[in-house]
Amino acid sequence: MTDKYAKPLNCLDRYAVVGNPISHSKSPLIHAAFAKQTNQDISYERILAPLDGFEATVKDLIAKGYKGINVTVPFKFEAYKLATHHSQSSHNAGAANTLWFEAKDIVADNTDGVGLVRDIEHNLNLLMSGKRVLLLGAGGAAQGVLHPILEKNPSLLVIANRTLDKALEMVKKIERLQNHHPTALSASTFEDLTGHEFDLVINATSTGLTDTALAIPNTIFAKGCLAYDMMYGRVTPLMKQAQENGAQVADGLGMLVEQAAEAFYLWRGVRPETHSVIQQMRSLA
Ligand code: ATR
Repeated sequence: MTDKYAKPLNCLDRYAVVGNPISHSKSPLIHAAFAKQTNQDISYERILAPLDGFEATVKDLIAKGYKGINVTVPFKFEAYKLATHHSQSSHNAGAANTLWFEAKDIVADNTDGVGLVRDIEHNLNLLMSGKRVLLLGAGGAAQGVLHPILEKNPSLLVIANRTLDKALEMVKKIERLQNHHPTALSASTFEDLTGHEFDLVINATSTGLTDTALAIPNTIFAKGCLAYDMMYGRVTPLMKQAQENGAQVADGLGMLVEQAAEAFYLWRGVRPETHSVIQQMRSLA
């Protein structure tokens, strides 16, 4: 008897990560590891979309029968706009890193925040509830993780940014949505952080890419502080500064694997084990 669910080998469910640039992306390796571990028959490629051609690229992938894509820089906002259905997390972030295609619909989610929180709480064992958290940056990456951090009820969340107005805008937006959140929320410049200490410092600026140091005081790292840089694959200036001031440090490799695991779960309904995949990616770095 033939198995009606068995697929011929040339009929694998196809997925991809779309960005510009894209050649550096580790997502194909991560998803291949998940697929092997969970016995899922999928293929996963890197696709370079022209800077002015994201929508056309997605439409082409849909026409070719792809089931879903991950979306990376600089297309996360466009991905959100292109979608016809949005999860709460993509709606909160106004951006999407995961899309899937159902009949005529494009469904959007954002798994970045879940990935960050899971790496910090589950892999690095720092529970955010009641903690003082500093989020550095107020761009797309910071927006994407703000709500999931707040959902963990830290006692304090300060958003510090070079351009103060953008941090103020993020705070105002949250206050409009949630009147009585238990977390004390404020915006700050880097200089005004003097005199304040944090249990968790998260760098969501893009400065790790260019090795630029942030003008933050050395005194912000409380005893036992974890300094987390969302960038991965290098010791960033923030990590160096934090280490010199007694903090534990982590890069964003765990977040990368965890956000991918959540996307894989949304697509396939199977949750891969991440610990071994993080180790595997670390050994390749
Ligand atoms: P992303 O999608 O990576 O978040 P983005 O939306 O352009 O990219 O945001 C970049 C973030 O890094 C912003 O918070 C930016 O600060 P400004 O809002 O003041 O531009 C921050 N950033 C980039 N270069 C920086 C630098 N040299 N010093 C401090 N902050 C920097």
